[in-house]
Amino acid sequence: MKTRLLGRTGLNVSVVGVGTWQFGGEWGRTYTAPDAQAVLAAAQDCGINLIDTAECYGDHLAEQLIGETLPGKRADWIIATKWGHQFHECFKRDAHMGPADLLAQLDASLQALRTDYVDLLQFHSGNDAQFATPGMWEAAAEAKRQGKVRFLGNSIGSNAVNTNQVDRSTEVGVDVIQLVYNRLEREPEATVLPSCQRQNLGVLARVPLASGFLSGKYKPGHQFPANDVRDFWMKAKQEWMLKEVEQIAATEVPAGVPMAQWALAWVLKNPAVTAVIPGCKDAAQVRANAAAVALL
Ligand SMILES: NC(=O)c1ccc[n+]([C@@H]2O[C@H](COP(=O)([O-])OP(=O)(O)OC[C@H]3O[C@@H](n4cnc5c(N)ncnc54)[C@H](OP(=O)(O)O)[C@@H]3O)[C@@H](O)[C@H]2O)c1
Repeated sequence: MKTRLLGRTGLNVSVVGVGTWQFGGEWGRTYTAPDAQAVLAAAQDCGINLIDTAECYGDHLAEQLIGETLPGKRADWIIATKWGHQFHECFKRDAHMGPADLLAQLDASLQALRTDYVDLLQFHSGNDAQFATPGMWEAAAEAKRQGKVRFLGNSIGSNAVNTNQVDRSTEVGVDVIQLVYNRLEREPEATVLPSCQRQNLGVLARVPLASGFLSGKYKPGHQFPANDVRDFWMKAKQEWMLKEVEQIAATEVPAGVPMAQWALAWVLKNPAVTAVIPGCKDAAQVRANAAAVALL
């Protein structure tokens, strides 16, 4: 594994982390503690120290599975979670971003994770009006003063409209930006990543496999089951994405290189990016994703 400094936080993170939206049960399967344990043990074995989770991957469910099964010592891990959404049932959540919501959700996250601090607490993809909620950033700073949070982040929503939020990171105390960046989604290169570099922000690239499409294993016409988020939220773009992936596989991926590893390395070669956080369904995917560092 390789590590990099997460911007100005001074945290040393593995360049490949583990995304845990999958543990919440919206990716076609439900997770038990042994399932989560297998993923996290493989991560530890590969030298991964970075875990991204959230309050709404299930109702604090992913955090609970992490808390129950985290191998090794707490201090060995950099745990990033988020505030802002209440999960109701699969594919249904609503926004609760204000100061009181932040503090209540953070306490629930700490309880689920069985820890007294998170390394990174991220604003969960709110719009500009929610970003400007009175008292919200002050509450986040207070959580930091109390030692419940080491650093603040912003997991921005749409890349196109969030330059404003990224530009204001330093002003509101945000040290890390999480964004969608992959071979099919290059919009951050225009303004968002340069703003991160100007402010020396850590950058976590989420959805680095374009929701699994950049693994190359799905072909146009693929039908996901109804309990898979890709059937529920991504149908509109699916055919375009899969056709692009076929083209990229034929023209850009060297022979013999697994496409998922190539796709992760492609993201990590951008000097503005600190780490990728691919969502992992099982230990085999963790190991395959960790092996992407050999391509750097
Ligand atoms: N708003 C936000 O803050 C936000 C939003 C989205 C995601 N996130 C975070 O970012 C993480 C990553 O994003 P994501 O999970 O949406 O998308 P992703 O990382 O691009 O894709 C994950 C999917 O790719 C497939 N996959 C993973 N490794 C593979 C490998 N080596 N070979 C083949 N297939 C592989 C798996 O699905 P299959 O095997 O079923 O194909 C997995 O569920 C999430 O887990 C979450 O922590 C945050």
